[in-house]
Amino acid sequence: MYKICIKNIINGLFVDQQITVCGWVKTRRDSKLGISFLSINDGSCIDNLQIIIKNSINNYNEILKLTTGCSVKVSGLITKSPKDKQDYEMHATSLLVIGLVSDPRNYPISTKLHSLEYLRKVAHLRIRTNIISSIIRIRNTVFTAIHNFMNTHDFIWITTPIITSIDTEGFSNMFDILTNNKIFFNKKSFLTVSGQLNIESYACALSKVYTFGPVFRAEKSNTSRHLAEFWMVEPEIAFANLQDIIKLIENMLKYIFSYVLNKRIKDIEYCVKYNGKNLITRLNNFINNGFVHINYDEAIEILKKNKSKFNKQITWGCDFSLEHENYLTNKYFKNIVAITNYPKNIKAFYMRINSDNKTVSAIDVIAQDVGEIIGGSQREERLNKLDICLKEKNLSIKNYWWYRDLRKYGTVPHSGFGIGLERLILYITGMHNIRDVIPFPRSMNDINF
Ligand code: 4AD
Ligand code: MG
Repeated sequence: MYKICIKNIINGLFVDQQITVCGWVKTRRDSKLGISFLSINDGSCIDNLQIIIKNSINNYNEILKLTTGCSVKVSGLITKSPKDKQDYEMHATSLLVIGLVSDPRNYPISTKLHSLEYLRKVAHLRIRTNIISSIIRIRNTVFTAIHNFMNTHDFIWITTPIITSIDTEGFSNMFDILTNNKIFFNKKSFLTVSGQLNIESYACALSKVYTFGPVFRAEKSNTSRHLAEFWMVEPEIAFANLQDIIKLIENMLKYIFSYVLNKRIKDIEYCVKYNGKNLITRLNNFINNGFVHINYDEAIEILKKNKSKFNKQITWGCDFSLEHENYLTNKYFKNIVAITNYPKNIKAFYMRINSDNKTVSAIDVIAQDVGEIIGGSQREERLNKLDICLKEKNLSIKNYWWYRDLRKYGTVPHSGFGIGLERLILYITGMHNIRDVIPFPRSMNDINF
């Protein structure tokens, strides 16, 4: 007898077989007829397995002590359930109590519905709730989908360093690395905000690459969409312009959404119920229709027509805030929107300058409720133009010597983008706070686990 996942039992693979499962008790109910019903979950899926235990079992007394959160190992026969509530149930022949809950009345994750704010305070146990476990399974499926997509499109995964000496985005919001208050390397170093600069050097040899890892930003903005540590996937392609990556982004999002709907529909359905949003229609709409694509100039025109409704006034040259993004996605287009060709002054130094000398070949993808989920661009591959940008942004040409080398030795047009994984998961699950879609969130003034 070996241990079976509840997911496979629920899928009907073990009917009429004697098997063993392990999990944590969700609920226990005892009938007057000397039968107990345990509902147990092992995290393999949202469903619980109902276990029927007769008082003829030799340790029935121990079973009567089981409360929510206890861990058990049960063996028994799987049968088709006569009840509508579940398809399969187990008739226990033996049950081993592995771990009791020492103080059941103070167990932090009782069966009642807890607020997400409360659950963040017990992040080490919140994974035992339906909502957080659903999100974490969806999160895993999103990561798998991305690797699958990249693999089938011949991208090579490059692991870029987490410790860096240069800034990618130029916000000066990097975490310093010090040991006993001293510099450890030969120069100042930081936790990276993006693997992009390193991945560009690999794109300029392997053509199609991506980096996928955690990135770090000492963000002062303590909002429901900002983390100090988050995950980003950054594809980078040589011999590719902005149009090429617009297409790639759209295909990649369609693939991820389809994959998640296909593999995790029960968890998505739970999120629909939990958040009251029609997530499945929203994802299917995108799969069928793709995104709306507009220029920054067009976005400004649309927003100006509605200016009375915004707190922050909109003029050409300004960056969008969430209220502007939400107007475009939720109200105006009712869809994910790709916005391209932003003013150079609000974008990073590496973006390719357009012939108007005012805008850069940038793309931001914004989504309903979440705002920006993707940022990318065609890269400036012309050394003289890159140097002008570095100077304009007060960045030291010396520090970027190796990045400039790529423009000296067989330079090519190349483009890439970064998807913020937690923002994408917010969109897919309809959750509101980014702290609820990462196992252990890190944000300003908040590192408890
Ligand atoms: O737009 P960003 O800053 O772009 C880059 O870092 C580029 N180097 C990517 C590239 O071209 N290879 O960040 C990319 C995405 C954003 O669109 C957003 O989804 C997410 O990362 N993001 C954050 N997510 C959570 N917390 C934060 N503090 C975030 N900052 C950015
Ligand atoms: Mg951005």
